Amino acid sequence: MPSEESHVFHPHPSVTKNAYVNSMAQYQQMYKKSLENPDEFWGEIAKQFHWETPIDNRNFFRFNFDLTKGPIFTKWMDGATTNVSYNLLDRNVRNGNGDKVAYYWEGNHPDDYSRLTYKKLLEEVCQFANVLKARGVKKGDRVAVYMPMILEAVITLLACARIGAVHSLVFAGFSSDSFAERIYDCEARVIVTADGVWRGEKLLQLKTICDQAMAKCSKDGHNVETCIVVSHLERVTAPKSGVPHKQTNKTPMIPGRDVWWQEVVPQASTSCYPEWMQAEDPLFMLYTSGSTGKPKGVVHTTGGYMIYAATTFKYVFDYKPNDVYWCTADIGWITGHSYVVYGPLANGATSVLFEGTPFYPENDRFWTVVDKYKVTQFYTAPTAIRTLMKFDDHLVTKHDLSSLRVLASVGEPINPEAWLWYYKLVGHQRCSIADTFWQTETGGHVLTTLPGVHPMKPGAAGFPFFGVEPVLLDENGKVIKGEGEGYLVFARPWPGLMRTLYGNHDRYELTYFSKFPGYYCTGDGAKRDADGYLWVTGRVDDMLNVSGHLMSTAEVESVLTEHHGVAEAAVVAKPHPVKGECLYCFITLTETGKFDDKLLQELKTHIRGRIGPFAQPEVIQNAPALPKTRSGKIMRRILRKIAVNDRDVGDISTLADSSVVEQLFASRPANA
Ligand code: PRX
Repeated sequence: MPSEESHVFHPHPSVTKNAYVNSMAQYQQMYKKSLENPDEFWGEIAKQFHWETPIDNRNFFRFNFDLTKGPIFTKWMDGATTNVSYNLLDRNVRNGNGDKVAYYWEGNHPDDYSRLTYKKLLEEVCQFANVLKARGVKKGDRVAVYMPMILEAVITLLACARIGAVHSLVFAGFSSDSFAERIYDCEARVIVTADGVWRGEKLLQLKTICDQAMAKCSKDGHNVETCIVVSHLERVTAPKSGVPHKQTNKTPMIPGRDVWWQEVVPQASTSCYPEWMQAEDPLFMLYTSGSTGKPKGVVHTTGGYMIYAATTFKYVFDYKPNDVYWCTADIGWITGHSYVVYGPLANGATSVLFEGTPFYPENDRFWTVVDKYKVTQFYTAPTAIRTLMKFDDHLVTKHDLSSLRVLASVGEPINPEAWLWYYKLVGHQRCSIADTFWQTETGGHVLTTLPGVHPMKPGAAGFPFFGVEPVLLDENGKVIKGEGEGYLVFARPWPGLMRTLYGNHDRYELTYFSKFPGYYCTGDGAKRDADGYLWVTGRVDDMLNVSGHLMSTAEVESVLTEHHGVAEAAVVAKPHPVKGECLYCFITLTETGKFDDKLLQELKTHIRGRIGPFAQPEVIQNAPALPKTRSGKIMRRILRKIAVNDRDVGDISTLADSSVVEQLFASRPANA
């Protein structure tokens, strides 16, 4: 039986033929240059963009990754000025692409669709930028965004970029508590949202969630001054089984604070002079879970992020001017930022922006949309693939998917079974698959295969992108050369790497640079095979990845212990056939706590309310005691074994009371 690593799929000649990079030699030569002469490599790319104050080549790139030598910093093109919205919009319009479609918007209901050209997008961005300015938003101010997948979401981000405001978009699946915490942390005085959105047959009342979040902020002493609301429900088709929109469209508006987008934007001027930003000025921040609980505001800057999102988009998707690209990720995640908004627009691309779900009105919606727009590049997550492959193959095969050339995956390791299904059924063994490994922090892809170059191995992320220098380290920080497995770290920054955590540079240094001086630590493990392919093996810290949503065990544990019935909680990841991982929670009750259905329901509702529906636990087990060392540390390694009912628990001699382990195995719940 050949090992998994020996399955190799070569790029199809039709993909290789016209690819920007189409041979290993070319990749190696470009990669070598990107490491040996980064100034020249990225300098040539940067030249394709507009810089109001030119780049000083003597000051192109500086960094320090070694805490023992001083503070951590990364600077690219420091001192040059530019504006990202200018480069994404005005530059493309000036280059003759004004009438090109920037987005085909496809609504939740198939009857709802529209398109927006570059010229029109520029006008609408300027209008909204002027509205923000009129509301007092200035360069450097944070604007919190809580929006569905609608064109106004893109417009909002670019309007912020136009005037130098820092957008802080929060995924509209987060609860009001989570949103409030993020508004509070970044002190946003302006919020942009929509009244609501249909997702399949479910209605999400976004403005109501914003109202709750704003009320919570006020209680904590932070007042949001303006809330701009897109009136969306009225203009879309409600699902047949849904509540008619007239009943739902009663969004209460607080005079002075709340304003309808449609009432202020059309009147605003369609021109807005861009604010010239320093290359190292922040462009946006985006929260990601931290292993100690409190979310981290990852800060991306203007110049480096722009050229990195643009370059990865171009090469990893091999995007050509007549292609139609579709990334299904929600705009609330980094994938939505880099590969729904910034990367595609920087390349003058035409994208599909999809509001709905893969399951509405039928389970073949993705393939219907690919066929409808003749999509050439399709980018989704393993969890979506695993869900879709459970349905009848006919749902895929009945559609014409011959337009597809490049498929891509992101968010978690893709299991070979899902990879093969994607490759064969969706890609007809003709498309290349890029398994893109990256993080909110990395700004763009860092490990991947390139479609016209690398033979693919199902489940392997592959090779470093240009400018990226991956290293595997053992526990003692020793470099692992050749084949081996260890901590995945990076030895130098590429232009798109985050620069700091909002308001907390110490935490930035501590989280990412303290474990191994001289390296950025991803928090993931990886192995390198004999052919040099990197296989990401998953998190090595206390983080969980549920359907591509990253969260920390600490975050969920602290929410569980907020319940008066729970004295202590320990959460571990359990493998799940569709979600990748799911939450397995152990709880120790308080004296008054009672382990019954009521408690389980309350805990689930509480987690949904405090974090979001995606964080709902799969299993909650009553644990009269937890396996702890004599010093009181919970041994999660053992809990992970209990979660999968694997009695091969290894050495338990350091436990204070080893009988706890057997008790927990014996009392695993029926649904575990
Ligand atoms: O564990 C890795 C996993 O997702 C983490 C980053 O999550 P987030 O910041 O939310 O960004 C997700 C989208 C870029 C990583 O530390 N991950 C992401 N992509 C892959 C992956 N693991 C394996 N293979 C991937 N392709």
